[in-house]
Amino acid sequence: CGIIGRVGSGDAIETLLTGLENLEYRGYDSAGVAVQNGSGIAVQKRSGKVEELKASIDDRPLEGEVGIGHTRWSTHGPPTDENAHPHTDGTEDVAVVHNGIIENYAELKSWLRDRGHAFTSDTDTEVIPHLVQYYLDEGFPNETAFRRAIDDLEGSYAVTAMFSGEHVLYAARQGSPLVVGMEDGEYFLASDVPAFLEYTETVVYLEDGDVVIVDEDGVEFTDLEGNPVSRNPETVEWDPEQAGKGEYDHFMHKEIHEQPTALAQAIEGRIDHGSGRIALEDFEPGTFEGIESVQLVACGTSYHAALYGSLALNAAGIRATALLANEYSVSAPPVDDDTLVIAVSQSGETADTLNALRQARASGARTLTLTNVVGSTAAREADDALFIRAGPEIGVAATKTFSSQAVMLLLLAQRLADDVRGEPHADLDSLLPELAAMPDRIDAILEASTADRVARRYADSESYFFIGRGLGFPVALEGALKFKEITYEHAEGFASGELKHGPLALVTPETPVFAIFTGEEDEKTLKNAEEAQTRGAPVVAVCPEDHRAVAVADDHLRIPETDADLAGLLANVQLQLLSYHAADLLDRPIDKPRNLAKSVTVE
Ligand code: G6P
Repeated sequence: CGIIGRVGSGDAIETLLTGLENLEYRGYDSAGVAVQNGSGIAVQKRSGKVEELKASIDDRPLEGEVGIGHTRWSTHGPPTDENAHPHTDGTEDVAVVHNGIIENYAELKSWLRDRGHAFTSDTDTEVIPHLVQYYLDEGFPNETAFRRAIDDLEGSYAVTAMFSGEHVLYAARQGSPLVVGMEDGEYFLASDVPAFLEYTETVVYLEDGDVVIVDEDGVEFTDLEGNPVSRNPETVEWDPEQAGKGEYDHFMHKEIHEQPTALAQAIEGRIDHGSGRIALEDFEPGTFEGIESVQLVACGTSYHAALYGSLALNAAGIRATALLANEYSVSAPPVDDDTLVIAVSQSGETADTLNALRQARASGARTLTLTNVVGSTAAREADDALFIRAGPEIGVAATKTFSSQAVMLLLLAQRLADDVRGEPHADLDSLLPELAAMPDRIDAILEASTADRVARRYADSESYFFIGRGLGFPVALEGALKFKEITYEHAEGFASGELKHGPLALVTPETPVFAIFTGEEDEKTLKNAEEAQTRGAPVVAVCPEDHRAVAVADDHLRIPETDADLAGLLANVQLQLLSYHAADLLDRPIDKPRNLAKSVTVE
């Protein structure tokens, strides 16, 4: 879910609605705003996207200088008008928006019901305004009522509230992200920086346990009891232009095209060309000495990057395993202080990944977060953080951040090999120039891709299969995930050699097989592709121009020649374009696929 709040002079509505649009990637099944107007708090909310909320405000205008807004990804209760935020207690003395899960909401609800409170939604959030109202009725002032209500909550939350007749916002954070934006006389609260990036770049990331009080004169940072805490402002370096769609119809298309720049930023200054070694900012040579094994934990696309990284680490002589973060609590391999656990997460806020990270820390492992978001929870909770510097990614389907994560993990693998074994991986001499050439190679793909034609040609298929071997395997999984996420068509990724152990039973002329060739045992992959072709499936080879597979395959998506460590990442760009064009032909809402959210902050 996404939260925005604003205090300042002039009307807040425009700012709130723009903020919500910028946060829609966090959830988009309902949206709402509440503002202070002359007579108290006015709330407007509804199921559907922010666009629909905007249209309803055009019909029934709202005004106010202070306000809060919310865009929702449902957890408790379906996406209905009643369940949309902001929530009030019915009297509209107080309005609240919330992200996270209140674990004790059922007890609180029945306790409040016993005291005469009537509820109108299925959400856990609704208990918050009722609790606040309970304390107001007990005679406490607004601030104390807010603090007491927060103190009653168990679970994870980012909460922002406002009271009738006051130009003040109150907010609290426990386990869900919240950031304050500051500009002279205008202050913001939001789940993430893109919400207010066009107004200010000075931000303070709140910590768990923080309670803040924001009015036109400034921000008071305190703990739950009201003791002041000191929080330092930071400057975010994201450019607001970067957070817009520019000339593209979709964020996803724009972000695919941003990959050359994103990769150049990821590697900038991180390769010491003099010594040919990897220089990772805060990590002095020898930082990782003594590490005996690595576990990478992640979800979704980040898991595929983690798998890519684990293969690269193994190839560099470091024992490594990639694990699904949501399985980690029941299936974590043993760790000790020689184990490095790397949380890979674009947002740094995925609840499943945070849990795995916390578990690893509690078990004594050393931890590192690889993320795109400076100030994110995962970045702050791990012993160390490494940033992929990809810039804001808004499309729900991750694209550029996958490429940047994978490249950073390749660098990290070299660096670990250097620290742990005293020597980088043997192929570093050939890898480094190829890495430096990646932005140009991706540009070449973006200019000449025939993925739109291939997407059209196979548009009426029943299922789409993606196969790859070695570093091509995580790319096959990622190709299929991207395809199903945004086209809603059935797609599966397999290890090439596994096709014959079951999936071949599904192969028909209606199931195109996209085969990824990386230069690792390509002969075998070609044989596997031919086994599918013999049974009628069209084969699309993703490989360089003069590859042997081109003559065998029915179609070809071309990638430039490169090192085997990087070829999969080039193939992935073609597969991103394939999914994009296939979804576009089907007229899908590409940036916001149904039922999904970019950042899932619940387990
Ligand atoms: C959600 C998104 C996926 C993403 C995953 C992990 O499920 O829809 O696209 O890969 O979360 O997100 P993270 O921010 O941890 O990389």
